[in-house]
Amino acid sequence: MSYVPVIRHLYLEGRELAILDQRALPSEERIMRLKNAEQVYGAIKSLAVRGAPAIGIAAAYGIYVHLANKDLFTIDEALEAVDLLKSARPTAYNLFYTLARQEKIIRSGKSPGLILDMLFTEAKRIHDEDLEQSARMAGFGAELIRDGDGIISHCNAGGLATGGNGTSVALIYEAHRAGKRIKVYVDETRPLLQGSRLTAWELEKAGVPYEIITDSMAGTVMQSGKANIVLVGADRIALNGDFANKIGTYSLAVLAKYHGIPFYTVAPVSTFDPDTPDGKSIPIEQRDPIEVLEFAGIRTAPGGAKAYNPAFDVTPSELVSGIVCDRGLISCPYDENIKIVVDREQK
Ligand code: MRU
Repeated sequence: MSYVPVIRHLYLEGRELAILDQRALPSEERIMRLKNAEQVYGAIKSLAVRGAPAIGIAAAYGIYVHLANKDLFTIDEALEAVDLLKSARPTAYNLFYTLARQEKIIRSGKSPGLILDMLFTEAKRIHDEDLEQSARMAGFGAELIRDGDGIISHCNAGGLATGGNGTSVALIYEAHRAGKRIKVYVDETRPLLQGSRLTAWELEKAGVPYEIITDSMAGTVMQSGKANIVLVGADRIALNGDFANKIGTYSLAVLAKYHGIPFYTVAPVSTFDPDTPDGKSIPIEQRDPIEVLEFAGIRTAPGGAKAYNPAFDVTPSELVSGIVCDRGLISCPYDENIKIVVDREQK
């Protein structure tokens, strides 16, 4: 049995936010130090820091470092920084959830000095909560993984994507820790390879058995019986249980349904959007087509080629076997059960 330490990839150093630059992994472990909202915006937009909970935490710290590095600041300046960070990426709800918490403090009418202290405390609290939520999801969800299971994982929903050991990957770590003999089929996750670059890097460090597959191999891996459960994260969960996650998640859910394989998403309460009724209303980030036209910086398509590059897709709740949340396992009817979780959070 092994213990998996939380990867220290996102932390404050005085008035700077230090992040492990995920664009450089797995070849280089490079730390970036960010001092203002513009730098944090750039790091989130370019995926130096990524994964729904992690970008929420980075943005909460980002507001603090932005203001802490000024001699004086006005409330308008603080709100401008909030707006800038909100515009970094549109899909992950966690970004809006944590910035709303910081915005409430900025609008509290308190003095700038007190606001700064409160922003610091709140950012730390958001980070600590995420760490605890990750551990709770692992506790609830690891039961879903049986001894001998083959698990398909998509994108990176591990420690690098959160303040703890991940969302869906935290379940895998817990099952491995408990001595279950498992194997993870790591979807490479085109076009930016969060699976082969990041999830594989994490599983390698943790000693969890895995094999990388290209995204198009998932069907044959299910058909051959090698995989018998799919675990993914989520960027935004609507009130009816539809959810957005990395492009390719929907195809996995359809394949899992066809093969009769359970398909779970795993997310903390900060990913549930109380204002989004269903998947059709989730904004989907469109990224630069160059990400599809190149591979590792080398052009792989003809000069005049165009590309379509949505970063996320929406999986309808009817394809989902259950949602593992830090409050427990949410199952059908999703609209009723999600409402209970969201209402409790808003109290
Ligand atoms: O574009 P990314 O790498 O930020 O996408 C991340 C994902 O899709 C993850 O699966 C999701 O954020 C959940 S991770 C805890």
